[in-house]
Amino acid sequence: MVTIKFGFIGAGKVGFSLGKYLKENNIYVTGYYSKNQHSSEEAAIFTNTRYYTNLKTFIEDSDAIFITTPDGEIQSVWNEIKEFPINNKLICHCSGSISSEIFSNITKYGAYSYSIHPMFAISSKYNSYKNFPNAFITIEGHEKYQKYLQDLFKSLGNDVGIISKENKALYHLACVTVSNLVLSLINNGVTYLKDCEFSEEMAIKSLFPLIEFNLNNIKSDGIVKSLTGPVERGDLSTIKKHCNVLCEEDKELYKLLSKNVLKIAKTKNINRDYTKLEEYLGEK
Ligand SMILES: NC(=O)c1ccc[n+]([C@@H]2O[C@H](COP(=O)([O-])OP(=O)(O)OC[C@H]3O[C@@H](n4cnc5c(N)ncnc54)[C@H](OP(=O)(O)O)[C@@H]3O)[C@@H](O)[C@H]2O)c1
Repeated sequence: MVTIKFGFIGAGKVGFSLGKYLKENNIYVTGYYSKNQHSSEEAAIFTNTRYYTNLKTFIEDSDAIFITTPDGEIQSVWNEIKEFPINNKLICHCSGSISSEIFSNITKYGAYSYSIHPMFAISSKYNSYKNFPNAFITIEGHEKYQKYLQDLFKSLGNDVGIISKENKALYHLACVTVSNLVLSLINNGVTYLKDCEFSEEMAIKSLFPLIEFNLNNIKSDGIVKSLTGPVERGDLSTIKKHCNVLCEEDKELYKLLSKNVLKIAKTKNINRDYTKLEEYLGEK
């Protein structure tokens, strides 16, 4: 495998974590250039690499430039770096929702663009890298180095997928649905228990086995087989009881989600009659 030197613009959570992960796996990391010198210095110390105060030198030293700034800064960083010689370099960012097309007219500069997204919550500059081998990595971008990048992450133990630029929004929607939106639903469950006089801590602790069991079932048996509960059973009286204790806003959400669950229930129990439930939920 060719030796490619990786450098990071943006010494935040992802820059720290990915740099440390690569370095720990003996991949050549040049170092960091960030908005604040203090951040680059901190990252360089953590990863035992170099910090740069001069963008030109940073670019000269690095073959693959990872822009790990907030999404809103990627475009302006690109506008800065394309002013320097970047022929044959890989220009990458880590955003889930933005494609590599943000690096506009990149062929004109002889460079290759990629979006490389770890499907993973990276919450700590100093600790998240330890969990990086569990991250599924998606790669989108120019064919030239796709296989190289895929093999690199695979060799570190990551599962890797290639996606197209057209699918980035849909792909990111999937990530948000199962992480942030699930979090909001768990928050609703916790709130209902708090209304039953549970403390927040007790609510999370008591719900956790349910959450975990559900996730483990999905992992081992898939979605349809894991479905249980009143919608699947067609238990209209229980569903009405729930609706009677919900505020209007939550009732609307509950009914919408229940309709969504019903679609799965119908594929699981093709001979079960869900007509009354469908009528109640407003399907018919
Ligand atoms: N965190 C996650 O869970 C996660 C997961 C997957 C993908 N991502 C993606 O990874 C990227 C980085 O996210 P993050 O969570 O690491 O963000 P972050 O912790 O906020 O770090 C971003 C860093 O970029 C630096 N920066 C801001 N503007 C800059 C500029 N114009 N030039 C140079 N450096 C600049 C800041 O450094 P200073 O300290 O120097 O100001 C900041 O520390 C985003 O594209 C995000 O969508 C994040």
